[in-house]
Amino acid sequence: MRVHLKGDVICTVVILTVLCIILYTQYGFTAMWGIQNLIKETSNTRVLLGTTAKRLEEFATPRLHSGQMCNSEPVDEGTVQPTRAPSSARPPFNFKQYLRNKDCRDFKLLLNQPGKCVGDTFLLIAIKSVAEEFEKREVVRKTWGAEGLLNGVKIKMVFLLGVPKNQTVFPEWELLLRYESRAHRDILLWDFQDTFFNLTLKEINFLKWLDIFCPSVKFIFKGDADVYVNVDNIVELLKERSPGEDVFIGDVIYQAQPIRSKKSKYFIPETVYGQGIYPAYAGGGGFIMSGFTAKRLERACREVELFPIDDVFMGMCLLRIGLKPDSHEGFRTFGIVRPSAAPHLKVFDPCFYRELMVVHSLTVAEMWLMWKLLHDPEVQCNTKVVVRKQFKWTKKQQKQKEDLGLKLS
Ligand SMILES: *[C@@H]1O[C@H](CO)[C@@H](O)[C@H](O)[C@H]1NC(C)=O
Ligand SMILES: *[C@@H]1O[C@H](CO)[C@@H](O)[C@H](O)[C@H]1NC(C)=O
Repeated sequence: MRVHLKGDVICTVVILTVLCIILYTQYGFTAMWGIQNLIKETSNTRVLLGTTAKRLEEFATPRLHSGQMCNSEPVDEGTVQPTRAPSSARPPFNFKQYLRNKDCRDFKLLLNQPGKCVGDTFLLIAIKSVAEEFEKREVVRKTWGAEGLLNGVKIKMVFLLGVPKNQTVFPEWELLLRYESRAHRDILLWDFQDTFFNLTLKEINFLKWLDIFCPSVKFIFKGDADVYVNVDNIVELLKERSPGEDVFIGDVIYQAQPIRSKKSKYFIPETVYGQGIYPAYAGGGGFIMSGFTAKRLERACREVELFPIDDVFMGMCLLRIGLKPDSHEGFRTFGIVRPSAAPHLKVFDPCFYRELMVVHSLTVAEMWLMWKLLHDPEVQCNTKVVVRKQFKWTKKQQKQKEDLGLKLS
């Protein structure tokens, strides 16, 4: 019995040693480094041996083939964090893990809207959202994001979502999205964790979706759920442009430097991005592009290494196709983020916002109010102070009412 056990142990050690030598000679140092990490992470050797082969493929092949799908890993209860408050305490970003999973970029579509672009769609509005933000989606649907005809052109809208990371916070999420999808036909849900650093995956998978399900759309607006978008202005702007040429317009940020302070939410170590400045990219709440540009970007982004900040990643794709993003005044909302940030103006002076394309960081109520004010025919913008006419019955109306026997004061 004793001898038998010893034999087993020796056998295991020999097999492991041989395996290590083979791996070392075949894949070099990186693979060994990966295995060492795996050994550290997993104490169970059976798990280790089971996953080694899979992991090694990732080290050996530069990228998954586009046909292959990645899966959302099971939620690790030890590190889950609600995605709701991106600015609040966040666990330190695991760059090692990010680099290891970087080639995993094609995810399964769990909820699709294959008929979204049937017909001649002029503008597709695509809004990044998370499962919990039901109210935001509702208000966007009822206000600026409403589908239909606008100045003679067809507008369509989709929300882009991933799987919530802490599902215990919101156990009904799946049911809710299923019903929302059925009721509004505007939910796209992918099988990756919906986290801040996974927004790049949203970008890539959306471009891929667009290429398959919306290939003839003329223009696309892509933005956040907490912006107010003046779609009339965007349509006016785009009517001058050709969908068959390159269009990429937003609030362009030039020569931004990577943040090297570990305390920042946007911290990027030099191992991840070595250069001193980022390429020009459209920041903030959103940008517009032509269908033609979207197709070119889809192909270009496939060749760009995954980068955890999504708008910078898009800048890298733009650089790859040699397209300079256009800066537009109407998108330059930095500094007037909220109405209260411009105290000399009347809070919610709609005339001030009439010229803008995108207004940032609005609450659900502010968004609704903004829409109502901008669509109120009584609000006139020629005078500085908005004077509303007092409501009065006209003589004819008064007569009609009197005829009906109603008493008017
Ligand atoms: C992104 O999503 C994948 C798949 O769900 C997950 O494994 C990974 O941890 C996520 N990455 C980040 C940075 O949140
Ligand atoms: C996930 O959400 C639940 C319910 O709110 C909470 O109790 C738990 O702490 C969360 N997990 C983590 C680690 O954030």
